Amino acid sequence: TPKTCIFDLDGVVVDTAKYHFQAWRRLAEFVGVAFTHEDNDNLKGVGRMESLDYILAKSPRLFSNKERLALADQKNDDYKELIKGINAAELLPGVSDTFTWLREEGWKIGLASASRNAPQVIKSLGVEGVFDYVADAGKILNGKPAPDIFLDVARALNSAPTDAIGVEDAVAGVTAIKAAGMIAVGIGDPALLHEADVVMPTPEGLIECFKLMQAKA
Ligand code: G6P
Ligand code: MG
Repeated sequence: TPKTCIFDLDGVVVDTAKYHFQAWRRLAEFVGVAFTHEDNDNLKGVGRMESLDYILAKSPRLFSNKERLALADQKNDDYKELIKGINAAELLPGVSDTFTWLREEGWKIGLASASRNAPQVIKSLGVEGVFDYVADAGKILNGKPAPDIFLDVARALNSAPTDAIGVEDAVAGVTAIKAAGMIAVGIGDPALLHEADVVMPTPEGLIECFKLMQAKA
């Protein structure tokens, strides 16, 4: 029976995807390359340096390591400025009720975010107490789509991967959940997230989905 739920953060718990988009687009403009919503979809779940390299690859210029680190800092400074004011009002619809329901049903709740800003974001949202374990993105060897971060959370929560459900809005994230041997719930476009076991447009359908899974098990 699945009794462990592992959440992605950006785009699942809170709509920070739009802030990452704005900050990356500003960075892309700064180095003189285009950055589309499709690019942003490709970068969801992807770590900071990997995302930067994806953008810099569009430029004919070569960037030194020092320049890359400075550009990554520039993006992160922009991003931090954009999320400075976030609070519980920005939790995506259904998230708060889902946390309450999972707690009442005795599930364990983990966070598997590739973002180094995750601890700050969950604090601003007032939900840091909800999580039994929060993965430290800086300590995960291989980023999504590798399964490492989801396996790290399952291990920390003493949960077999087969007893865990991962919730993701990113293509790379869904791939990571499936590679970890877990059930994948996608939040977003089913055409994009076709690897997921179930896809819903927003987290509002999660409780019903978990109830069905509990009943089937
Ligand atoms: C998440 C987001 C990505 C972001 C990555 C790294 O996976 O979906 O858009 O690039 O985290 O975030 P960070 O806050 O560490 O730059
Ligand atoms: Mg995400």
